[in-house]
Amino acid sequence: MTAQIIDIIRDHDGALRQACTVLADGLPVAIPTETVYGLAADATNPAAITRIYETKGRPRFNPLICHMSDLDMAERYADFDPISRRLAEAFWPGPLTLILPLKPESGIHALATAGLDTVGIRLPKGFASELIRAFGRPLAAPSANTSGKVSPTSARHVADDLGEKLALIIDGGAAPVGVESTIVRVENGVIRLLRPGGVAAEEIETATGLAVIRPEGPAAIIEAPGMLASHYAPGAAVRLNADHVETGEALIRLGSAPVKGMELAAAVFDLSPSGDLAQAAANLFDYLKRADATGAASIAVTPIPDHGLGEAINDRLARAAAPRE
Ligand code: TXA
Ligand code: MG
Repeated sequence: MTAQIIDIIRDHDGALRQACTVLADGLPVAIPTETVYGLAADATNPAAITRIYETKGRPRFNPLICHMSDLDMAERYADFDPISRRLAEAFWPGPLTLILPLKPESGIHALATAGLDTVGIRLPKGFASELIRAFGRPLAAPSANTSGKVSPTSARHVADDLGEKLALIIDGGAAPVGVESTIVRVENGVIRLLRPGGVAAEEIETATGLAVIRPEGPAAIIEAPGMLASHYAPGAAVRLNADHVETGEALIRLGSAPVKGMELAAAVFDLSPSGDLAQAAANLFDYLKRADATGAASIAVTPIPDHGLGEAINDRLARAAAPRE
């Protein structure tokens, strides 16, 4: 099988129609979202969800985010406490996932939630939202990459990785946010950050007037069960907080300041010449893949400030640099 690719700018209605047909057949479709490309399937259909896990080679204990078209749909499947509701109103549609108590017997299949009594819900923007509305059911969708690899931010990334295993890839251009959604869980009035992502923690604090509690140490990260340490791994080694380039390394830098030894780099990638963190996030995964494709044994990355979207960037870089299992 080689995936058909439909560009939504050329054939928006065809893309919507074809995607609905494939979903109704119980197969996954790769779709653009504002964060990264997702591998979407009917969240109520166990055979379809099984295909997602098989296609990605993803461990079954790692639950999937269920994507909804609107708050009414989300409320059919999950219970909202007042703070979660406030977050939904402030950031949906957008790059925020809320972990919420699952309504029993609501129809989301236990394979999507890995049997948990909670469900991760997100309302995406753009084509993904239109597709869910047209299909009429929530779509379970992890990032559309082989488990453990860097997430895709273009249809080309998806085709290169999973093209042989998929029937259909919808091309919506480069994903504008470029890192996955922020995941939070509200419990007893406390907002806990399970994964930094496309909504900065500071924005959540501003919108709610509440502190966002970070996990204590790496162990707590496992609470979002997918957050295994060596995730987002390119083939090359990744060297963080680099203040120089070793001969033959590829360099990924933020800002336009010269880096010692960069004239001997295999290639240089500028995340954002002006140091803009949103632009850097949008370029991150593409540049990691391109740096990896140079064949350099190591990728040096200059320091990234840890505020705003920098927190998500540093989280993904730390995982890319983590020892491989
Ligand atoms: O931006 C995104 O979030 C993208 C797009 C496609 O929406 N999706 C995404 O999915 O990044 P994935 O599967 O790569 O990451 C989902 C994370 C996993 O770490 C999973 O463990 C966690 O969400 N998760 C899902 N449901 C959960 C639950 N009920 N409790 C705790 N963590 C959950
Ligand atoms: Mg992923």
